[in-house]
Order: sequence, then structure tokens, then C-alpha cells
Amino acid sequence: MYKIVKKEELAANIYLMDVEAPRVAKSGHPGQFVIVKMDEKGERIPLTICDYDREAGTVTIVFQAVGASTKMMAELNVGDSFRDFVGPLGRSSELVETDVEELKKKSILFIAGGVGTAPVYPQVKWMKEHGVDVDCIIGARNKDLIILEDAMKKVAANVYVTTDDGSYGFHGNVNDCLKDLIQNKGKKYDQIVAIGPVIMMKFVCILTKELGIPTIVSMNPIMVDGTGMCGACRLTVGGEVKFACVDGPEFNGHLVNFDEAMKRQQMYKTEEGRAQLRESEGATHHGGCGHCSDEE
Ligand code: NAD
Ligand code: FES
Repeated sequence: MYKIVKKEELAANIYLMDVEAPRVAKSGHPGQFVIVKMDEKGERIPLTICDYDREAGTVTIVFQAVGASTKMMAELNVGDSFRDFVGPLGRSSELVETDVEELKKKSILFIAGGVGTAPVYPQVKWMKEHGVDVDCIIGARNKDLIILEDAMKKVAANVYVTTDDGSYGFHGNVNDCLKDLIQNKGKKYDQIVAIGPVIMMKFVCILTKELGIPTIVSMNPIMVDGTGMCGACRLTVGGEVKFACVDGPEFNGHLVNFDEAMKRQQMYKTEEGRAQLRESEGATHHGGCGHCSDEE
């Protein structure tokens, strides 16, 4: 059992929890995810690691209470426990695997959209701990939905907050803010990491392709069970079939077929859509776990 030792509501329906999971805390890296399960029959929920404290043996997760399972998760309190807390899973962020001296030569910008701010935080924190100065844009629909602003300010060289309705910070979406930084504030970036809703990552990549700035994205939002078995997170990257939970979750955003991923995400929601996908994708429907049948 994995005990919840801290719970905080960061914004309406967005919760942070610190969970006692010493093994995950010891070996987790930015970019990786965990699968949590509330009880034996509960849904498996993949969540990107938001932070970890190796000494205290705790892992921080942030989630939005949107579906039945995450709404039940939001009802858990300090002292309650998860039955399963499996991880770290997936590959570490590409940047934390890069030579630190190379990173120091680059001008790096993180773009965090809404709840996607949570997985951006450990990467920016890692950069700070390794002496790499990076900038960060945090975008949300309005002031009340901005999360982790103070924490991010402690680890990023510059934090630019932007809201779609202009209720706080810059007025516009993350792309408007990026254009403003480049066109009006004289900023130049060699590398961008964009994490947020799939639609945001799609439009950030269209812009950064035009600007010629390499961009990494996290395809965590299309994952369902996070095990390589359900086939939900299949996507095409540079013409090749990949699985977000096995090969990612991070990919070169300029090579991701976002339209296909979003269409597939919609189809995956219905039994009929899943049956169609299984039929059309055949042996490549799953992530290559090697022990799944056509049953789900
Ligand atoms: P949201 O819809 O409120 O969007 C957040 C911000 O993204 C907006 O304020 C805007 O600045 C930007 N954005 C959205 N659409 C855009 C577009 N078309 N063009 C340019 N910018 C755009 O986000 P939310 O409701 O807080 O986030 C929920 C989503 O985040 C879920 O889909 C969830 O799966 C996803 N998420 C992603 C990750 C990840 O690893 N990529 C992690 C956690 C959550
Ligand atoms: Fe199920 Fe990747 S989330 S195969």
C-alpha cells in the first residue's frame, strides 16, 4: 500500500498528492510516469511524475478530476493509500539524458499548458539543479487555473504567465506568448519542450517548425493503461508506428502526426471504434507486450 502524505487542491478540480513510494522515488527521472490503482478492481491511471524526494521516499503526482476514477481519487485524503503505485515507467526526458555542458550552451524554453505544467516542473527543477538556466511559459484559460507558478519561479530563470482571457499575465495562448517573446522581447531559443493538451502541442509544433526550433512533446494524454497492452497510445512519428507508453512519452514534436493521434483518441473511446482500430491495425494495434489477445 502506498500512503498519501500530502494533498493540496492547486486549482478547481486539480489536485497534488505526495505519496510514499520509496522505490519509485529512488529511481524516477523527469519525463517518466507511474500507474496508480486505488483498489484491486480499480482502473489503472497513468500519471507523469511531477516531483520526487529521494530522501523522504515520496513521489508527487498532479491530476485533474475529470473521469469517474480521477473523481474517486480526488476523494482520497492524507492517510489513505493507493493499492498500486507502479513505476517509474517510460523513458526519461531526452534533455535530462543530454550532456549538461551541451545543455548549458543552449537557450531552452519549456511551454507548459494547463495541467501539463505538472510534468514540466521536474524537468525545469532538474535543469536548475544541474546549473542550466531555462525559461518557461505557463499558459492557462484563466488566472484561477494557473498552477505551480511559485514553484516554477524558484527553478526557472524567467517564467512568463499567459491566460487565454487576459485575467492574469500576458493576454493570449502559449503560442501568442511565444511569438511576443521572439518578435517583441528579443528572445531566441534553440530548443523547446512543450507539454499540455494535444491540440496545444500540435499548434506549438506548427509554429516552432516555421521558426526552425526543435521541439519535444509529451504524448502522455493519449495513454490509457500505460502498459503497452491496450493499444490506445499508438501514434505515428516520422512515418513509424510508436507507442507513447513504451517508446515515449516524449517524441520529436515535428515528426508526430497529431491529427491522426487526436482522431484515434476519439475512436478509442467507443467499443465500436476500438473494434475498428483492432481490425485495421492488426498485429500493430498493441504496443508489443507480446502476451495480449484481441480481448481487452
Ligand atoms: P487547457 O485546454 O486549459 O489549455 C491550456 C493552455 O494550452 C491554454 O491556456 C493555451 O495557452 C494552450 N492551448 C490550448 N489549446 C491551444 C491551441 N489550439 N493553440 C495554442 N495554445 C493552446 O488545458 P487543461 O484543461 O489544463 O489541460 C488538460 C489537458 O492537458 C488534458 O488533455 C490532459 O491530458 C493534458 N495533459 C497533458 C500532459 C502531457 O504530458 N502532455 C500532462 C498532463 C495533462
Ligand atoms: Fe495502452 Fe500504451 S497506454 S498501449
